[in-house]
Amino acid sequence: MNSFLRDDRMKMIADSVRKNVTVCDVGSDHALIPIYLVASGKNEKAIITDISRDSLEKGIRNVKKEGLSDFIDAYCTDGFQGIVLPDKCDVIIAGMGGELIADIIGAGRQLKNRDVRLILQPMTKPEYLREFLLRNGFSIVKEDKVTASGKIYCVIVCKYTGETGKVDPKEIYLGFGFDRNNETHKNYAKKIISVLSLKRDGIVRSVSADKERLADIENLLDLLSKELDG
Ligand SMILES: C[S@@+](CC[C@H](N)C(=O)[O-])C[C@H]1O[C@@H](n2cnc3c(N)ncnc32)[C@H](O)[C@@H]1O
Repeated sequence: MNSFLRDDRMKMIADSVRKNVTVCDVGSDHALIPIYLVASGKNEKAIITDISRDSLEKGIRNVKKEGLSDFIDAYCTDGFQGIVLPDKCDVIIAGMGGELIADIIGAGRQLKNRDVRLILQPMTKPEYLREFLLRNGFSIVKEDKVTASGKIYCVIVCKYTGETGKVDPKEIYLGFGFDRNNETHKNYAKKIISVLSLKRDGIVRSVSADKERLADIENLLDLLSKELDG
C-alpha cells in the first residue's frame, strides 16, 4: 500500500480519478488522497475543502509536510460554496453519509457539466444517494465495491447528463454493475439484505405494524435475494 493511502478504500477512490485533471476533494480532512494524486504525478493540481477549520488545518499541515502547497489550494467551506471549479475536473466526496453527499451535490450548480466527474463513497444510505443521482440527471458511469478494515464500501463514479434514468430497486440497493460471481459484491448484497431483514423484523414486532411498509420491504427482500442467488 502506498504510504499516503491508508487502505484499499482510499486506493479505489484514488484509482477512480482521471489522470491530468484538477481534483477537488470535498470534506478532505487529512487530504491524503489529493496528496497522493499530486505527489505521484497523476494529477497536477488539487483543491481541498472542509467545513471544519480543524480538519482543514490537518489537511494543510499534511500538504505542507509534503511540500505541495503550490499545487493544492485549501478552503474552509460548506461543500462548494465560494469555490470555482475548472471546466474539467474530478470531484471526490468520500467518507460522509449518503444524504449529506446528496445535499452537497444538490447545492453545487457547477457540477451540471459533462466534464465534471464525481467520485462518491457514502458511509451510509448509498441507496438514497443512488436514487438522488438518477432522479437529478446524474448518470452512473461505474460502481465498484471494496473491503477495508473488515467493512465493505461502494465507490460510485458519475457525471451530469441531464437524463433521468429509470429507477430499478435492484440497482438502487445493490449498486450498479452488481456481479453475483464477485465475492465482494456478494458480501455487500448480504449486508444490505441483513439490514433490510432487521428493519422488517422491527416492523413485525411493533404494536402498530405498518402493513404497506412491511409488504414493500418483503417484496424488496424477495427481489434482492433472487438477484443474489441467481
Ligand atoms: C470522515 S471525514 C472523511 C475524510 C476523507 N474524505 C476520507 O474519505 O477519508 C468527513 C469530513 O467531511 C467534512 N464535512 C462534513 N460536512 C461537510 C460539508 N458540508 N462540506 C465540506 N466538508 C464537510 C468533515 O468535517 C470531515 O472532515
